[in-house]
Amino acid sequence: MAEAPQIYEGAIDKGLEGIVACTTAISSIQGNTLSYRGFTIEDLAQNSTFEETAFLLWNDRLPTAAELEKIKTDLATEATLSPEFISALKAMPSKGVHPMAWLRTAVSMMAHWDQDAQDNSPEANQRKAVRLTAKMGAIVCAFEAIRNGKEPVQPKKDKSLAWNFMSMLKGGAEPKADHVKIFDTCLILHADHELNCSAFATRVTTSSLSDLHSAIVSAIGALKGPLHGGANEQVMLMLKRIGTIEKAQQFVKDALNAKEKVMGIGHRVYKDGDPRAAILRKISDKLTKESGEHHLYEMSILIDDTMYKEKGLMPNVDFYSATVYYSMGIPIDLYTPIFAVSRIAGWCAHAMEQYEKNRIYRPRGKWTGKMNQTWKPVAQRG
Ligand code: COA
Repeated sequence: MAEAPQIYEGAIDKGLEGIVACTTAISSIQGNTLSYRGFTIEDLAQNSTFEETAFLLWNDRLPTAAELEKIKTDLATEATLSPEFISALKAMPSKGVHPMAWLRTAVSMMAHWDQDAQDNSPEANQRKAVRLTAKMGAIVCAFEAIRNGKEPVQPKKDKSLAWNFMSMLKGGAEPKADHVKIFDTCLILHADHELNCSAFATRVTTSSLSDLHSAIVSAIGALKGPLHGGANEQVMLMLKRIGTIEKAQQFVKDALNAKEKVMGIGHRVYKDGDPRAAILRKISDKLTKESGEHHLYEMSILIDDTMYKEKGLMPNVDFYSATVYYSMGIPIDLYTPIFAVSRIAGWCAHAMEQYEKNRIYRPRGKWTGKMNQTWKPVAQRG
């Protein structure tokens, strides 16, 4: 008889802090250096594009010129939503529905039109990764159109994912070139992040040898929460609630006294600063100046400084991305869906890596409930 595996109880009820759950070669966090496939996030944000970064995440190398052209064309072409799919999207209620809930259902529904839906081969997963990544942005923009009683705009085949997103979101208008560049940088910064909650959710679902769409639906559900991707939306709502620079410090102190979380601050892994926040902070400074709302940046700086002084905690990726998106006129409840528009690249990479060397995730639970109970007929229960 095989022996039962040894049980390690050190991380029980601590959110698996410090547990190494799998090997991975997609992205790494060493100190405050984040790298995708060995390239630092600063290098990629400066020099790459989201399309190239997605290729890198999926293939463990940079594309050749021809491969880069192909991935750009494939992502732009596959972004088109079919009339049947748009009709199904329109049939979904959108009033009073959070866009992340809507996105979760929409992505699940995508599988019904995908000829590779049940095929878990590496080739089919590469094709599905392209389709999922291409369509995620188009779906978020379709939501914005549909909830405003407008017709979704289709993407242009010769434009980047960032350009198409910024254009489709505004009904097909020509987006500002610098906004497209900044949005592309945001997509690169959010594309992957080691074994975060939603990447882990992707891998857990994949590990049962379920299909890629199911894994991505799990990931969207995990990202939606305010302790993960939902924080960027909460940061903007918090800034709006605070209202003025003068109230920012007191707001933080009150929140800490009340043992409430200040959104966009703190991180399980980075204790010395999130490198993505450093990049976004500079962009936020520039964009809020241009939009005439620099007070939002100044409030953010005060919150950032006060949290550091009071708790030694620093901002994460969600803190400054909020004012970056706000300055570009993006509706606040779309910030978390935008996180998904980017993170889909990383989720697909994690699913593909998991399929390659899979064993089902099946941890143990430590029993703290009752034992030896005896069933009684309903008439005899007190
Ligand atoms: N505001 C106030 N206090 C915070 C805080 C925040 N944003 N983040 C952490 N803390 C405090 C906790 O209250 C706790 O304090 P205590 O030891 O006095 O009880 C301590 O710091 C550890 O926090 P904990 O929640 O256990 O850390 P974690 O590693 O489990 O969680 C986060 C990490 C990111 C979930 C957490 O920092 C958080 O909730 N941040 C706000 C949400 C957010 O921005 N999420 C996006 C993550 S990218």
